[in-house]
Amino acid sequence: MTTHDAVSLPTLRATPFDPPPALAELRARSPLSRLRYPDGHLGWLVTGHDLARKVLADPRFSARSEWKRNPVARRSLEPFYGAKALPGWLVDMDPPQHTRIRRRLARAFTAHRMRTLRPRIEQIVSRQLTAMAEAGDPLDLVAAFALPVPSLVICELLGVPYSRRADFQRDSATLFSLDATAEQAARAMDDLQTFLTELAAHKSRRPGEDLLGTLASDGELSVAEIAGAGALLLSAGHETTAGSLGLGVLALLSHPDQLARLAEDPGLADTAVEELLRYLTIFQFGVPRSALEDVPLAGETVRAGESVTVSLPAANRDPLRFPDPDRLDVGRNASGHLAFGHGMHQCIGQNLARTEMRIAFPALFGRFPRLRLAVPAQRLSFGGDTGFYCVHRLPVSWS
Ligand code: HEM
Repeated sequence: MTTHDAVSLPTLRATPFDPPPALAELRARSPLSRLRYPDGHLGWLVTGHDLARKVLADPRFSARSEWKRNPVARRSLEPFYGAKALPGWLVDMDPPQHTRIRRRLARAFTAHRMRTLRPRIEQIVSRQLTAMAEAGDPLDLVAAFALPVPSLVICELLGVPYSRRADFQRDSATLFSLDATAEQAARAMDDLQTFLTELAAHKSRRPGEDLLGTLASDGELSVAEIAGAGALLLSAGHETTAGSLGLGVLALLSHPDQLARLAEDPGLADTAVEELLRYLTIFQFGVPRSALEDVPLAGETVRAGESVTVSLPAANRDPLRFPDPDRLDVGRNASGHLAFGHGMHQCIGQNLARTEMRIAFPALFGRFPRLRLAVPAQRLSFGGDTGFYCVHRLPVSWS
């Protein structure tokens, strides 16, 4: 492959739910392409499912922020990429730092804690639906349901006061936005870290049952690490699930045959959620890595220091892994999808996100069987400009 073949990351979608068609063209030629990064340097783009799994499972590909380069121009990452990872910000670390923090967090994400959270999630979902019914239609489903449900859940899990949601929702939206300036992103991170540091310090004096309290009680992580990990969990924990809930509802409304299958057979809820995660793959620009040494890959050699972007949306639409991949099929076995990544950084909150989605979709369509869009679909706007793909507003009616 020559450097003349290098492309910029395709970001232009032809339809709201499908990844940019140019990604499929690249994947059809090879699972590995040369990628031109916004700063002009050359790296690699992985589009094949099998190769994506290989790269993400291979410790020779680093996730350290010092070497991370973003495949799309994103000034909001300037203060963080190229610099050392913030304490506790494990997504930007390699072993052994990553292992130490991940292990401690994984112990806090116990099956027991997830089980006890389930009835609370049901309650939260049910209350939001009642509030929607009382408010009456039409209303924006993102503001009334998709955003508050995961925000309330993550606050409950971590022990963060929900009354502070306006601040942390604004700060995370700034961090994940492509439009935010470096100064705005640095300020947002500062605010988020200050808030979590105060909270973590408070919890270390008066530890409680919640996750931050548990982390604070054993003294294994420093207050700065708890604050950093808490900020990551808080922001990643609500924004991603909110995007998946909003888009998931829209995808089902746009595929009435699939919605009808789900309504007839509620037993399909689990496979439907996996399929929606695969089909929507909201990490639209993929995940960044860099090679620690020369690695032979798909007939090429990725040189030490070169950047690699793993396109999760392209991998999840690979026809070699998922037959007829562009079709939404709620009965499909979508296991093995990469919507939560793969390898040591695979999403730590995935079971929480799954539980929320498994509860939320059936409850919403069960409470409002006539749920429909309140505006023509062409009027909807999508987050092509955020790290996580989403629908910005989703006006719906049900009466
Ligand atoms: C549908 C919702 C979600 C999606 C699609 C998603 C997706 C992802 C992906 C793709 C990664 C891997 C990043 C990489 O390899 O560089 C990741 C990591 C992570 N996610 Fe999620 N996530 C979701 C929900 C959540 C929730 C609810 C939480 C917190 C409760 C969470 C916390 C994290 C954390 C802390 C990491 C970093 C893990 C590590 O580096 O070891 N995510 N997520």
